Amino acid sequence: MAPSNSPDSPLSAELPAPYGDGPAPAASAPSAPSPAATPAAAKPAGRIRTHHLRQAKLNGERFAMLTAYDQYAAEIFDQAGIEVLLVGDSASNNVFGNETSLPVTVDELLPLCRAVTRSARRALVVADLPFGSYEVSAGQAVATGVRFLKEGGAHAVKIEGGKFYAETVRAMVQAGIPVMAHIGFTPQSEHALGGYRVQGRGDDAQRLIEDAVALADAGAFCVLMEMVPAPTAAAVDAAVEVPTIGIGAGNATTGQVLVWQDMAGLRGGKMAKFVKQYADLRTTLSEAARAYGEDVRSGQFPGPEHSF
Ligand code: KIV
Repeated sequence: MAPSNSPDSPLSAELPAPYGDGPAPAASAPSAPSPAATPAAAKPAGRIRTHHLRQAKLNGERFAMLTAYDQYAAEIFDQAGIEVLLVGDSASNNVFGNETSLPVTVDELLPLCRAVTRSARRALVVADLPFGSYEVSAGQAVATGVRFLKEGGAHAVKIEGGKFYAETVRAMVQAGIPVMAHIGFTPQSEHALGGYRVQGRGDDAQRLIEDAVALADAGAFCVLMEMVPAPTAAAVDAAVEVPTIGIGAGNATTGQVLVWQDMAGLRGGKMAKFVKQYADLRTTLSEAARAYGEDVRSGQFPGPEHSF
């Protein structure tokens, strides 16, 4: 019988997993933020909690949030020091190929949520409750929130809507579910709002302030504002003690969020005004795929170095 360490033995040293072997250990993080550049929200060695975000606002510091829908994005953003990861219902139109966020279901989002929470060692992971999973009653919202914490491993959930949802938020918080409120333009209400429109202009600013105050009073740990004029967002931020997060809401909020495929240039087409692209992954991936295809067709790949 061949010795167990012989290359011919079925028990010879294991090769690295060819298709990925789960999240990398936290210790191997290649690009952990340097302590000097680390904001207050990023200081905890362990998991970032909702109270760290509140402390960031008190300290006049800011934090970053990105969407994440899978293992590698979660792992990379976590190791890059992004404080909050959002398993957004934007997975509907960034993962599942739908035109809007409306069709995505709880059962579709839960596996993505599990992948992100298994892969992020430090970030606070927030999961969106998708359209139709919380509007019917506070009881429905609690039941769906419980599923995201229990089955998805999320640390908090986000729901869209104004002060009408204050009692829903209160019930969820009482059940032990941290809630992020999403006001301003709420994509799940796209049809009711008459399309993608900036919210809170002029006199309408007062409505957003009242929404934010009611939701924060009900226990929301954070208020996210989408497509809101910068002065309105600043007024909302000043009206609540909890931290605020903006997307197309100017620069006065405690945090900012972007959909990661927009931020990294993976998605094609016209970007919203509020998007800043920090990479061109679409070109990088497209060039890599073309080069691979050409190598295969010409017989250049696999070479001897890739063969056993
Ligand atoms: O689902 C999502 O990506 C969001 C962000 C736009 C905030 O809710």
